Order: sequence, then C-alpha cells, then structure tokens
Amino acid sequence: MSTIPLLDLNAQYRSIKPEIDAAIRRVMDSGQFVLGPQVQALEEEIARYCGTRFAVAVASGTDALELALRGCKIGPNDEVLTSAFSFFASVEAILAVGAQPVFIDIDPATYNLDVALLQKHLSKRTKAILPVHLYGHPADMKSLMEFAASYRLKVIEDCAQAMGAAINGKRVGSFGDAGCLSFYPTKNLGCYGDGGMVVTHDASLAKEVFLLRAHGSRKRYRHLAIGRNSRLDELQAAILRVKLKRLDQWNKARRLRAALYTSLLQKNGLGQVRAPAERKNYHHVYHLYTIRTPNRRKVIDRLEKQGIATQVAYPSTLPSQPALKTKIRSQKGFVEAEKASRSVLSLPLYPELSAKQIEFVVQSLRRALL
Ligand SMILES: Cc1ncc(COP(=O)(O)O)c(C=O)c1O
Repeated sequence: MSTIPLLDLNAQYRSIKPEIDAAIRRVMDSGQFVLGPQVQALEEEIARYCGTRFAVAVASGTDALELALRGCKIGPNDEVLTSAFSFFASVEAILAVGAQPVFIDIDPATYNLDVALLQKHLSKRTKAILPVHLYGHPADMKSLMEFAASYRLKVIEDCAQAMGAAINGKRVGSFGDAGCLSFYPTKNLGCYGDGGMVVTHDASLAKEVFLLRAHGSRKRYRHLAIGRNSRLDELQAAILRVKLKRLDQWNKARRLRAALYTSLLQKNGLGQVRAPAERKNYHHVYHLYTIRTPNRRKVIDRLEKQGIATQVAYPSTLPSQPALKTKIRSQKGFVEAEKASRSVLSLPLYPELSAKQIEFVVQSLRRALL
C-alpha cells in the first residue's frame, strides 16, 4: 500500500480542476483582484449557507476572530472565556485586542469547552465567550447561549474547523453574535492561500468589520477608524465559490469515512482506543478524525513506518504555551485538556480516502498496539 497522507489536496484539485482553472482564468481576464464581485458574491453565498444575514470576507481566520472581537467592542480590561484546548490563534486574537483570556477546561468527550465550568470563571470583567468547535464537533451552544444571555455576554464562535457543522440543523456561526471562518487550505472549505470570514446577524457588527478590514475607510482616503488591511482577493473568492457548492457533499464523505473508522475500531476489538464522540442531533463535520490512544509515541512511529501520516492536535494546552507566560496571570487546573494533549491522535481523513486505505490504517493501528 502506498503512503497515506493526513489530507490529499491534490486529489481534491484533480476532481474539480477544469472548473477551478476556468474560475481562475476569468479573474485574470477581469483585471480586478481584490474585494471585487467574486468576494461580494461569496459573502452572499456564505451568509446564506451559514444562515446569517451578513458575511464579511477577511484575510484569514485569525483576522476574523480579531476583527469580530473588535467589532463587539471587546478590549483592554475585558475578560474572554475560552477553551483551554485549541489552536493558538483563538487566544492570540483575544490578546491582540488587549483583552485577557480566561481558560475553561474541556468536556473530555467532545474536546469543546465544558459549559458547566463557565460560571466558576465568571468575573465582573467577563465580556464575552469564545467557544471553539474543535475538530468539527459543535460546542454545546444551547447551554452556552443561555448562560451568555443571563450575563449579557457577547459570543464569538470560532468555526475555523467546523464549517457546515450544525446542531438540530442550525449551522455553527449562526448561534452567537459572530461566527469566524477560516479558509486555510487544509480546512473543510479551503482556498489556495489564506482567507477568512465573519458571519453575523448583526448589521452594526457587520458594518464595523467591513470598515476595519479596509483601513477604517468606506470612502477613498477618508478614515473613520484605525483598521488594517485584511482583504480577501478575487482569486481566492472565485476558488471558494467553486468549492462551496461541494462542501456538503465533501462533509458527507468525511462523515461516512469517520463512521467506517469507528465501526472498524470496534470490530477489531480496539477497546483501548477511544473513537470520537458525536452528540445526538449534532452534525460533526470531522475536520479531523481524532482518537485517543495509549502509547501514542509508539503508535505514531509504527504508523509512520507503514507510510501513514498522523497529527497531534494539540500536544499542549493553551495555558501552558510559553508565549503566554508573561502575558496572562497563571491559570491552572485543566485536567481534561492536559489528558487530551497527552493522548489525542488524528488519523488520515479526507473525502477521497478509500475504504481500503481506512482498513489498512486500522489494521496498522491494531498491530502497533499489540
Ligand atoms: C481553531 C482555529 N482557530 C483559528 C484558526 C486560524 O485560522 P487561520 O489559519 O485562517 O488564520 C485556526 C486555523 O488553523 C484554527 O484551527
């Protein structure tokens, strides 16, 4: 069996090459390259897809988080409750607006922040919650939104890994004040560079993010706010529009492959390996298929020898990141996040992965654990 990568972007490109190439050529011929008709059409299509009134394209998922926080007027002296287990960008955005992250331990089944712990970390300075829908499984938004409403907190959803995920048919990004998407190439909806988007029901928040992404300017050379350059380009937007039409089909393919992994893990008696959980009525989009395994180092090495790529997302918790040492007060007690950081392992998963390849991965895993 040839090597199995974690993700195969070439296979995806091959499957849509004529349409992508034609879309790129049209942009090249148009001579319009930044914030043009493709970006505007994409904003409309993504707002419709996510079930929000507005969508504002920006240069990355990290920018989406930062500009959404700024748009929600979160800044110095404010505290933002967020998960102790995520990619660093979630906390970077909070610090970039001058606010303080206050970490919440995770629910060990879904890896998302444990909503039952929010109350314990609430203070007079708490202004917002930033849940992350990690690996593609939505956080418990019903309880989280109830909690936020009772303390008038803003909610900024980090949907970078979860585009298309939903609870009872309602898509992530449409629960809170803002949803932040990333179009980094490896994401479920990825472009061929960097890109991101803020989705929201709130007209004034959308207006503010529109302003901030383009130097605080609506009219040429007149600046109403200190913004920045966080523009999406036409090439990426045109590519994303081609891919968006296939997102549901790709997410479905991911879910089928995840289900096959889970049933094969059970059939092979891999009781010591924990498959990902999926809450009832939650639509998981499996950005990553993440198991927990004993002897992780040995498993990684054995799989690598078989040509199987794996990934550890993440080998440490956010509160333990060295960059935060001098930036935030020391926070402790993230038992579940720490346990996860020691045992999680993501296996190859992408829409083009074959059943044979999945069987090979599970057999190799079984042998590695003998
Ligand atoms: C959970 C999470 N948040 C935010 C981001 C940042 O997105 P971007 O890389 O587009 O800036 C990522 C990307 O990896 C992510 O996984």
